[in-house]
Amino acid sequence: MAEIAEIPESLREWERIAAHSHIQGLGLDGLKAKFVADGMVGQTEAREACGIVVRLIREGKFAGRAILFAGPPGSGKSALAMAIAKELGKDVPFVPLTASEIFSTEMKKTEFLTQVLRKAIGARIHEVRKIYEGEVKEISIEKAQHPYNPYQQIPVGATIKIATKDESKKLTMDQSFAVQLIQQGIETGDVIQIDIDGGRIVKIGPSEEAAKEKKIDLTTIKPVPVPRGKVLKEKEFVYPVTLHALDVASSRSGSDIFSLFFGVRESKEIEPEVRKEVDEYIKSLVQEGRCELLPGVVFIDECSMLDIETFAFLNRALEQELAPIIIFATNRGFSTIRGTDIKAAHGMPLDLLDRLLIINTKPYAEDEIRKILEIRANSEKIKISEEALDYLTQVGVKASLRFAIQLLAPAFEVAKEKKSEKIEKSHVVYVEKLFSDVKKSAQYVKEFEKQFIQ
Ligand SMILES: Nc1ncnc2c1ncn2[C@@H]1O[C@H](COP(=O)(O)OP(=O)(O)OP(=O)(O)O)[C@@H](O)[C@H]1O
Ligand SMILES: [Mg+2]
Repeated sequence: MAEIAEIPESLREWERIAAHSHIQGLGLDGLKAKFVADGMVGQTEAREACGIVVRLIREGKFAGRAILFAGPPGSGKSALAMAIAKELGKDVPFVPLTASEIFSTEMKKTEFLTQVLRKAIGARIHEVRKIYEGEVKEISIEKAQHPYNPYQQIPVGATIKIATKDESKKLTMDQSFAVQLIQQGIETGDVIQIDIDGGRIVKIGPSEEAAKEKKIDLTTIKPVPVPRGKVLKEKEFVYPVTLHALDVASSRSGSDIFSLFFGVRESKEIEPEVRKEVDEYIKSLVQEGRCELLPGVVFIDECSMLDIETFAFLNRALEQELAPIIIFATNRGFSTIRGTDIKAAHGMPLDLLDRLLIINTKPYAEDEIRKILEIRANSEKIKISEEALDYLTQVGVKASLRFAIQLLAPAFEVAKEKKSEKIEKSHVVYVEKLFSDVKKSAQYVKEFEKQFIQ
C-alpha cells in the first residue's frame, strides 16, 4: 500500500540551518567583534550592530521594533540571523521563515502571519503545584478482568510506597495513574513525581543507590539523588511556552493548558476569541506575578518577495501591545513592491522602511572568503590542500562565496574517487567546469534565447 509521510517540523528546521551549521554566535568580546570567532569571519560592523540588538532584545527594550539586513547575496545576512538566534539562547523564541512560505501555506495569509508572530512571543509561567515526590520502594498494580475480553486483564488501580530521605508514604491510586505507571515502566528504585491536580506521573530517573545496585548502564541513563524533606510538598514549576502554543492548546480542549506539553499538532486556524482569552489569561498571570513575557524574534528572509498586504499587516502588528521583534533580510536594492507597480528601496513600502533600523552587510574581501571556506570545509569534515584553497578562494572572488562553498562537497567527491584524502587544485578546477555559477548560467541561457526567438 502506498504511504505518505509528512516531513517533521524539526527536520525542515535542520535543512534550513545546515548551511550555517558552523555558526555558533556573533563572536563578540563585549560589544567588539573579533576577526574570527564562533565560526564568524569579518563583517565586523554588522556583527557589532547585531551585538547591540541582542542586548536590547534580552533587556526587553526592543519589542515592536524591526531591523533590516540589506546587502549583496552571500554576504552573511542569513548567517547573522542564525548567530543572533544562538546568542539569544533557547528561552527567547526565534522563528525563521522565508517570504515564499507565506504564499505556500494552505492557511489564510493573515492567519499564518498571526501564528508566526505569536510563536515568537514566549511566556514563562510559574505554577505552584502540590506533588508527591520520592523514590519508589514498593509497587503493586491491581488488575481485573477486561469487561468485554475475558482473556485480558486490565489495570484498575495501584498501591505504591514512595520515600524521601526523611519519610515515606503509602499511596493508593486509581486506574489512570496505574496506566501511567505501566506505560512509563516505573519500578522500584525510580524517583518519581506525582502531580495530583494535573493527574500526571513523571519518572525522573533511577535513584543513585538503585542505579548502583542494579548496575544500570550509565551512558544512556542519568541517576538522580533521592529528594529530601516531605513526600507531599508544594513545588514551583516553570513552564516555558509561546502564545501560539497556548492558543493551540486552548482551542483544542478549552481546558488544561498543561496538556500541551504532550505534543501539539498545528495546522488549524484559530478563532480570534480563543486568542483573546489566552491574552487575558496571560495578562492576569502577569499581574499576579506568575508569568513573565519574553518577546522573541521573527526572521523573514528574502523579504522583497513579500506583498503589499503582508507589509501592511506586519506594520500594524508592530504597533500592537504584544509584538515580537521582526528582522528582515534582503539582497535587492530597488525593486517593485509585490502587488503594486511602485518601485521602492528593497521592494518595501516607505512607511515600513521608515521605522526600520538598517544594517548593511558588505561583500567579503579575499582573506575573509578564504577563512570562511576553511571554516566551512572543517565543519563538513572535508580536507583541502593550501593550493586548492587558494584556487577556490579565487573562484569565490570572481563568482560568489556561496558558489565557492557549494563546490566544496562535489570537489571532495572527486578527490575520494581519485583516492586522495584531500581536495587538490585539479579537483576544484574539474568541478568548476561541471557546475555553473548564477552569472555564467544566466549568460549561457541568454545566448540561446536569441536563437529561440528567431
Ligand atoms: N561572516 C561570515 N562568517 C562565516 N560564515 C559566513 C559569513 N558570512 C556568510 N557565511 C556563510 O556563507 C554562506 C552564504 O552566506 P548567507 O547565506 O548568510 O548569505 P546571505 O547574505 O543570506 O545571501 P542571500 O542574499 O543570497 O540570501 C553561508 O553558508 C554562511 O553561513
Ligand atoms: Mg540569505
